[in-house]
Amino acid sequence: MIRAAGTSDIEAVVALEAATQGADAWSEGLVRDGIGGGLPTISYLVAETDDQVIGYAVASYAGDIAELQRIGVAEPARRGGVASELLAAIVAHAPSTGADRMLLEVRADNRGAIAFYAARDFVEIDRRARYYRDGTDAVVMRLPLIAGCGGRQK
Ligand SMILES: CC(C)(COP(=O)(O)OP(=O)(O)OC[C@H]1O[C@@H](n2cnc3c(N)ncnc32)[C@H](O)[C@@H]1OP(=O)(O)O)[C@@H](O)C(=O)NCCC(=O)NCCS
Repeated sequence: MIRAAGTSDIEAVVALEAATQGADAWSEGLVRDGIGGGLPTISYLVAETDDQVIGYAVASYAGDIAELQRIGVAEPARRGGVASELLAAIVAHAPSTGADRMLLEVRADNRGAIAFYAARDFVEIDRRARYYRDGTDAVVMRLPLIAGCGGRQK
């Protein structure tokens, strides 16, 4: 089940953030602020099965751009479609916020995530050199949400 995250999910999301994002993981304070509503453009979703939070995603909606800031799934639950469900929920919601495209940045060495995004119709549009704290480049990818916003149309 995909649902909006609540304050009772903070601990689980912080643990997933640490487990899936490594050195780039957000602090507990930042997650708490985001889930608690302190960051007005930010929205957290969680994927739950058998009362366990097994995945989460974070999007920001500001003007015509929706940004996928995070998506992570617990290792044992991967390749079962959980991230696809989380992404589908974000993509379905984004146009109602006024967004016409979704952008994201992903580490250039994160082959699994790049393959996931490509399989979900994101296309690479740019690179940001030395974007991450260890000097790795970011690949910038885009998904059009309405016709005429670039990328591959569905
Ligand atoms: C990337 C990630 C979110 C994918 O989650 P997931 O629940 O396993 O994804 P899904 O099961 O919905 O995958 C759907 C499709 O994406 C592609 N895909 C996903 N992981 C892949 C991998 N490691 N290698 C190649 N393709 C992959 C495949 O096409 C897959 O379909 P298939 O299983 O039928 O081949 C997960 O691997 C993860 O949490 N990684 C660590 C965190 C991370 O890198 N997040 C992204 C940057 S914020």
